[in-house]
Amino acid sequence: MAPVNLSQPGGGGGGGGRNRSVQERMLRCHDKIRLFLDVAQRVVQREGDEQQCRDGAYDVARYFRESFADHTADENLSVFPRLAGLAEPALAFADRAIAEHVRDELLVSELVTLCDQLALAEADPARVRLAAVLAELTPRLLDHLAFEEEFLFPLFAQLAPAEEAAMSQEMFDRRDARRGP
Ligand SMILES: [Fe+2]
Ligand SMILES: [Fe+2]
Repeated sequence: MAPVNLSQPGGGGGGGGRNRSVQERMLRCHDKIRLFLDVAQRVVQREGDEQQCRDGAYDVARYFRESFADHTADENLSVFPRLAGLAEPALAFADRAIAEHVRDELLVSELVTLCDQLALAEADPARVRLAAVLAELTPRLLDHLAFEEEFLFPLFAQLAPAEEAAMSQEMFDRRDARRGP
């Protein structure tokens, strides 16, 4: 399994640098989510040697604990509240996406716990459980990402530039706060 380079573009303030639009950065986050779901699947299938699988599990746990959590917070706290103020059906779309975040919370948390375990040592029970978690979570998340991309992200075009700038600043502040001084 090839190592994942977390310093690639997309790991920063909502998926990329400050010169990118919020929508571009959100799309980059979605690409990363798809990438790390794939890495998790390769950990389940024991692609590569034991060290590569442990490294892959470490990368998946770190990604979902940090960047995925930031992305979800961006949407819940900075993005969807602004989109929800646009003409209907924006509010209904935002409500659906937030409900899906809540629905998936427990499985994402279990994914992180299992990958933390598999980063420390190969263990069949954890790997078998991870397979079951991914079988449930992966199609849900892929459908969620596609829904946001088709119905929510195009609404960014209707926001005033000042709203987009405020949203963008909140996303960078969120990451700075997590990383600390
Ligand atoms: Fe989302
Ligand atoms: Fe998203």
